[in-house]
Amino acid sequence: MEKFNSKVLVIGAYGQVGSEIRSIQDKLNFSFDFPTSKELNLLKLDSFEDYLDHGKYDLVINLAAYTDVELSEKNREKANIINNLSLDIIAKETYRKNIGLIHASTDYVFGDSGGPYNSNDKKSPINFYGLTKSLGEDLILQEHKRSMVIRFSSVFSEYGNNFVKKIINRIINNSEVEVVTDQKISLTYAGDFAKNLENIIKFYYDEAFDSFQDRIFHFSSDDYTDWYTVAKIIHQEMINFDKEFTNVNLIPISSNEWHSMAKRSSDSRLMIDKEFMNLGNIILSNWKDRMKYVVNKVIPSMIRDHGKNG
Ligand SMILES: NC(=O)c1ccc[n+]([C@@H]2O[C@H](COP(=O)([O-])OP(=O)(O)OC[C@H]3O[C@@H](n4cnc5c(N)ncnc54)[C@H](OP(=O)(O)O)[C@@H]3O)[C@@H](O)[C@H]2O)c1
Repeated sequence: MEKFNSKVLVIGAYGQVGSEIRSIQDKLNFSFDFPTSKELNLLKLDSFEDYLDHGKYDLVINLAAYTDVELSEKNREKANIINNLSLDIIAKETYRKNIGLIHASTDYVFGDSGGPYNSNDKKSPINFYGLTKSLGEDLILQEHKRSMVIRFSSVFSEYGNNFVKKIINRIINNSEVEVVTDQKISLTYAGDFAKNLENIIKFYYDEAFDSFQDRIFHFSSDDYTDWYTVAKIIHQEMINFDKEFTNVNLIPISSNEWHSMAKRSSDSRLMIDKEFMNLGNIILSNWKDRMKYVVNKVIPSMIRDHGKNG
C-alpha cells in the first residue's frame, strides 16, 4: 500500500476528532472522503461493500461512535450497534479488500482496577458505553488482522460537544458549580490527533507496526489530572476574559455526590506508549495550553448565545 496520496475514508468525520482533521485537510498529503452520518450510517451498513468499491479507498479511519456515556445506559441497542456490532462488517470488508483500518477507542474500556493502564492491560469496562467500545475493539482486531486501535481519553476540542463546553456553560449560568474531584483522568486534545495523522499513517504502513502484536496504542496526555483541576483552569481563563466570572464559586465534590446513570471509574488514566510515540514521531502538545486555547476560542460565541437565549 502506498503511504501517501492514499485515498482515506473517515467515518465519524463531523465529531470532535474528525472536525479537527477536516480543518487541516489541505495540509495533509491524502485524498479524503468525509461522509456525514446520513451518507454512511453505521446503523444501516448493508451497502458498505459497494461504498468501498465505489470509493476505491486505501485506508478507513473509524472515528464514529455513540459517545454519550449517560444515554448509552438507556439506548443500549443503538450504542451496541454503532460501537460494536457494525464494526464486524467494517473490519471484515476492509480486510477482504486489503484496505487499511485505524479505529478509535476509549479509556472507558478500563475502570475496575485503577490506572494508569498500559495498552495491553486486561480490560474491565464498568459502564455500557465502555463495554460496547471494548467489544468493538475485539471485533476490529479479530476480523482485520492488520488493523490498529487507538485509544483516546476525555477528548476536547473547539469543535463538537465536550466537557470543556459543558463546564463553560455551567459557569456562565450558575453562581455555584459543583465539580467532581476524585476521578483521575488523562486527556486527549483532538487537534493533536489531526496534527500527527500523517505520521500515524506512516507508522501504520511501516513494518515497525508489525512488531506490536496487540496493535493497540494509547494517545493521550502523559501527565494526569482530575475534573476539578480542569474546571479551575477553565474558570481562570473565563475570569481573564471577563472579571464578572470571579463571582462564580467552584465547589469540589466526590463522585458519590454526582448523580449519574453510568458508573464512572475513579481512575481510567491511560499510560502512553513511549515506543509508539518515538517510532511514530508523534508529538503531543501541552494539554493545559491547548485547554486555554480552546476556552478562549469558544467563550465569545458561548457568551453571545447565552445573551440571546436569556
Ligand atoms: N469524546 C470523548 O471524550 C472520547 C473519549 C475517549 C474516546 N473517544 C472515542 O474517540 C472517537 C472520536 O470521538 P469524538 O469525541 O470525536 O466523537 P463525537 O464528537 O461524539 O463524534 C462522533 C461522530 O460519530 C458519528 N456517528 C454517530 N452515530 C453514527 C452513525 N450511526 N453512523 C455514522 N456516524 C455516526 C457522529 O455523527 P453525527 O454527529 O452526525 O451524529 C459524529 O460524527 C470515538 O471512537 C470515541 O468513542 C471519545
